[in-house]
Amino acid sequence: MSEAIAQDQSSQPAIVIRDLHHTYSNGHHALTGVNLTCGTGVYGLLGPNGAGKSSLMRILCTLQAPTSGEVTVCGVNINEDRLAVRANLGYLPQEFGAWRLHKVREVVDTLAQLSGMHDKKVRKARVAEVLEQVGLTQVAHRKVKKLSGGMLRRVGVAQALVHAPKIIVVDEPTVGLDPEERIRFRQLMAELGRDRTILLSTHIVADLGAACQEIALLDSGEIIFQGSPSSLVAGAVGQVFQVVATELQVDDIESNYDIVSTTVSGSNVIFRGVAGDQDLPNGAEVVKQPTLEEGYMAFMASRGRGAAARQDEEKK
Ligand SMILES: Nc1ncnc2c1ncn2[C@@H]1O[C@H](COP(=O)(O)OP(=O)(O)OP(=O)(O)O)[C@@H](O)[C@H]1O
Ligand SMILES: [Mg+2]
Repeated sequence: MSEAIAQDQSSQPAIVIRDLHHTYSNGHHALTGVNLTCGTGVYGLLGPNGAGKSSLMRILCTLQAPTSGEVTVCGVNINEDRLAVRANLGYLPQEFGAWRLHKVREVVDTLAQLSGMHDKKVRKARVAEVLEQVGLTQVAHRKVKKLSGGMLRRVGVAQALVHAPKIIVVDEPTVGLDPEERIRFRQLMAELGRDRTILLSTHIVADLGAACQEIALLDSGEIIFQGSPSSLVAGAVGQVFQVVATELQVDDIESNYDIVSTTVSGSNVIFRGVAGDQDLPNGAEVVKQPTLEEGYMAFMASRGRGAAARQDEEKK
């Protein structure tokens, strides 16, 4: 183990990112001054496609060097001691599809070895333990290509966890999972987040929810919000409406507001949506307790990223 870890810098937050910039060789500015601090718990990194989530995570995991800025993982600067950073960190990439012809246990065992676990006996016991933890003991001998999407993601979690890192970085973990697997995955993250840092990226707001202690919104390479899920929701109070739309209203509401849900009941269409700074549609009622997704949409609308802004664009 490197000296940097042996000093135990645990008084510092697990992840500290200061003024991080990343520009790809084609000139694209993927990250433009990111500041982010994460302690113990589940942190959700939420943002639309192309926001820079995977870029940020790859930099954190030392797979890609940033253009500029300072990143420390458990007190260790990522530019100074990559091995020490990697020892403290488990990473589940957005694409985890290789290893198709190997058995589950072999995959986790091999990746454990790559994470620095060289003692075969210790590794064997730990692999068994971690497979039990993610609920894969029954399929430890099965080939990866025969697993369901949910099981495959759990293999990914097992390999990220196997060397008992203090931080786990998970990129878009629920893509392709069915609703039950999604709930199971969320519970696993909440459980793991009790005594370590989990940074989880997603563009699906519902994936975060109650288990998440803090949310950071990334948009076009910039963190535009960091706070608790409840504070994001609180900002939407008064802006979220529900309306039973008349036939004449349907088109107007669909094109002018951010619609979160549409329910058809007989000849009625019930919309739930975000008004932003516009007046509510005629006959609409304010929703007293907006959901996290509505909190997110209201926030994006307040940044000029909602339906009203799209309408203005189209008029130009
Ligand atoms: N290797 C690369 N070279 C050039 N541009 C890149 C490269 N990788 C990513 N980008 C660009 O950087 C921006 C951020 O990409 P990134 O993959 O980090 O976003 P993301 O938030 O993870 O998106 P998604 O939700 O689709 O996974 C995008 O505009 C992307 O096209
Ligand atoms: Mg991504």
